[in-house]
Amino acid sequence: MAFFMEFDAKYWNGKYIHNKTKWDIGYVSTPLKEYFDQLKNKKTKILIPGAGNAYEAEYLINNGFENTFVLDISEKAIESFRQRMPTFPAHQIFKENFFEHQNTYDLIVEQTFFCSIDRDSRNAYVEKMVQLLKPKGKLVGLLFNHEFGQNDQPFGGTPQEYKNIFSPHFRFQHFDVAYNSIKPRQGREHFLCFQKK
Ligand SMILES: C[S@@+](CC[C@H](N)C(=O)[O-])C[C@H]1O[C@@H](n2cnc3c(N)ncnc32)[C@H](O)[C@@H]1O
Repeated sequence: MAFFMEFDAKYWNGKYIHNKTKWDIGYVSTPLKEYFDQLKNKKTKILIPGAGNAYEAEYLINNGFENTFVLDISEKAIESFRQRMPTFPAHQIFKENFFEHQNTYDLIVEQTFFCSIDRDSRNAYVEKMVQLLKPKGKLVGLLFNHEFGQNDQPFGGTPQEYKNIFSPHFRFQHFDVAYNSIKPRQGREHFLCFQKK
């Protein structure tokens, strides 16, 4: 297990070091921005795992959500975030493996993290989300709703597959094609709001 974790950290760090980050859109995605904009409770404790450059965290903290936490396995991604956001509270930034993280949150944000996880680890991802969410906590974000036809990340999937793995643990408050995706992802992703059962 430790070998795979180290491999993952090196793999992802290399992507950031060599600027091979084609998933990085450079700003908070519109579906998430619009979701955040209608949240009323600024004290909500929020985790962004696999955050990368964490534009969502930047947006949240700049809009008064001071209880926002960032987590990524890549040293380089975390370091870049620290440099870009020097006033972001240091104790709210984790350079850590998601599967080893221990804490609980009201809201966890999914943005191209699930698709970076090995297919064999999907159930572990779901179980870890359940563990990290407080009772009635929510997992909110975006999932690609199609396959990419390749054996490398991003790993796609189908809405039916997601229903099968998430529905034993979550109530689906919303799960449909996002209407407000950024242009290159239009029609290709589902917006989800899953509440822990
Ligand atoms: C496809 S990128 C998405 C980054 C960011 N969410 C975005 O949309 O720009 C996947 C991210 O997950 C991180 N990651 C992959 N496996 C991880 C793990 N087991 N624990 C924590 N972070 C991980 C990678 O370092 C990378 O930053």
